[in-house]
Amino acid sequence: MRFITITSGKGGVGKSTLAANISYLLSIYGYKVALFDADIGLANQDIILGVRPQKTLLHVLQGEATFDDIVMEINNNFLFIPGENSEKILSFKHAEIKESFYKGMEGVERFKDLDYLIIDTGAGIDQNVRTFIEAATDTIIVTMPNPMAIMDAYTLAKYSAKLQEDIYIVVNQAKSEKDGKEVFERIERVAKKHLPDVNIEFLGAVEQSSIIDDATRQRKLVVKDFQNSVPAIQISNIVKKLTNNLTKDGEHIKDTPHISVYFRRLFG
Ligand SMILES: Nc1ncnc2c1ncn2[C@@H]1O[C@H](COP(=O)(O)OP(=O)(O)OP(=O)(O)O)[C@@H](O)[C@H]1O
Ligand SMILES: [Mg+2]
Repeated sequence: MRFITITSGKGGVGKSTLAANISYLLSIYGYKVALFDADIGLANQDIILGVRPQKTLLHVLQGEATFDDIVMEINNNFLFIPGENSEKILSFKHAEIKESFYKGMEGVERFKDLDYLIIDTGAGIDQNVRTFIEAATDTIIVTMPNPMAIMDAYTLAKYSAKLQEDIYIVVNQAKSEKDGKEVFERIERVAKKHLPDVNIEFLGAVEQSSIIDDATRQRKLVVKDFQNSVPAIQISNIVKKLTNNLTKDGEHIKDTPHISVYFRRLFG
């Protein structure tokens, strides 16, 4: 099993959009996937996935629902754990949220045979985000081709480098694939100089495209409802590269760490 945290320094770069589309494609390829919306207080995966959760993590924290109650099935292979998009959840301490997530995941039978746990974090590098980077086996850093976003991506890479051997970069909202590749190469150059032991890997670029915005507005997924569009193909290439990388030694995804390992990592 792989525990993948999707993160970015800067906000609004496309983490949630990519997390939803990547999770969906993995599920279509036959992997068992759970996606957790860990953007505490600003959760919006429900909009991207086009679902309406009745209860969220907030209800679990308030003791009004079990973790199993809030899990939604997007399809047979794809479980979604809704976060909360009101400030009410901010009154809960980070440790309580972590504990509730852990206890909930641990008790739920449906999580036992997962291949991928995908965590969509909020922007920045607060305690919540750090926790999910620390627990991850792999981090995907999403950035955009502007100097601030690139700088923030590098700062995050520096942080992840203390914890993971491989760091994956996706350049979203690029002018072209070539432009995306150039942005990656800029990050790689700086990283090689300052973080010589880290393997920074380019997963791919996704172009700036009105199709993504339209899909979100219509509560549709690009990779599902606009399958042949350029961004859908670019996202599917990212997923292929990701799955190839994660099984590069011929290791089957099921042979990699069990969910219990994740919990141990979560609590350091
Ligand atoms: N490649 C793209 N082309 C055009 N629009 C995009 C692209 N990727 C994402 N967007 C749009 O950008 C906006 C922000 O995307 P998203 O919510 O996925 O970002 P985020 O990084 O998760 O933001 P936050 O930091 O607030 O969680 C959305 O309106 C989304 O539709
Ligand atoms: Mg988001």
